[in-house]
Amino acid sequence: VTYSFKDELKSCAAEIERALDTLLAEAPLSGPGVPPQRLLAAMRHGSLNGGKRLRPLLVRQAAGVFGLAPAATVRAGLAVEMIHCYSLVHDDLPAMDDDDLRRGKPTVHKAYDDATAILAGDALLTHAFSVLADPATHPDATNRIRLVAELAAGAGAGGMVGGQMRDIEGETSFLNERAIAQMNAMKTGALIRASVRMGAILGGASDEALDHLTEYAEAAGRAFQLADDLLDVTASAAALGKATGKDAEKGKQTIVARLGVEAAQRQLGEMIHDALSALTPFGDEATGLRATARFFAERES
Ligand code: IPE
Ligand code: IPE
Ligand code: MG
Ligand code: MG
Ligand code: MG
Repeated sequence: VTYSFKDELKSCAAEIERALDTLLAEAPLSGPGVPPQRLLAAMRHGSLNGGKRLRPLLVRQAAGVFGLAPAATVRAGLAVEMIHCYSLVHDDLPAMDDDDLRRGKPTVHKAYDDATAILAGDALLTHAFSVLADPATHPDATNRIRLVAELAAGAGAGGMVGGQMRDIEGETSFLNERAIAQMNAMKTGALIRASVRMGAILGGASDEALDHLTEYAEAAGRAFQLADDLLDVTASAAALGKATGKDAEKGKQTIVARLGVEAAQRQLGEMIHDALSALTPFGDEATGLRATARFFAERES
């Protein structure tokens, strides 16, 4: 059978949606107490019914390079996706990008309130690590600890959160091209990098294979944010499910703002080329990762 990216994207998204729905229920979330209904509802609003689920797809495809079955990658995919969803809930807050629409729905702080959105994000973040700690994620505790460390590196002050800080600082102070690239590598690239590396770790990659896949992920991550910044200028809110023209309105410093659409599109092409080049040591087993990198540049939403 010939490979279809569209089919893989669809089946991965359906599987993640199903698994998230099961996971974000009272019993799996209970600690010494019962999670408040309003918090649970806001967590579900911020994570279910929407999203391309590209990070779980990367976990699955990177593990697939080493022959691991998709079902064995779902929990690690859920952990990354919960971090991603939390990052969006907080990114949309009035104190950050101040957005009302996300994935075609009101943002969590609009549907609930700021405090609930902050707490729902916090709870999604925390639960991601609880999912990784569970033996169901991988039978070997050493492997699970590596996953925890990867996700923490991708999500934290030297990764996504640090990149978000640079993004906010960039609203009021000049960033040169290098600094913009660094911001993108952190706010968006770091979680994409973590997704690929977590998949590779689950699959039992050698150090050498992990290095090649990391190179792929870093190039793909740069491309992903550049495409997002291009779509903010070139696409419609209806197609994206989120407001457009926001980066210019907020004074965000992006490669697109700095170089213009055409030069940015050229850079995007180069980044995809770099991502594909990093996969040359691999054969057909990396077909999915290649298709995903191409999709990063061609996507319309
Ligand atoms: C949007 O990410 C935010 C960025 C990191 C650029 P996605 O485009 O993956 O958003 P969803 O998950 O599909 O909604
Ligand atoms: C988001 O970048 C990066 C995150 C870590 C959430 P953007 O602020 O450009 O993402 P959108 O355009 O709101 O989805
Ligand atoms: Mg932002
Ligand atoms: Mg935003
Ligand atoms: Mg954006």
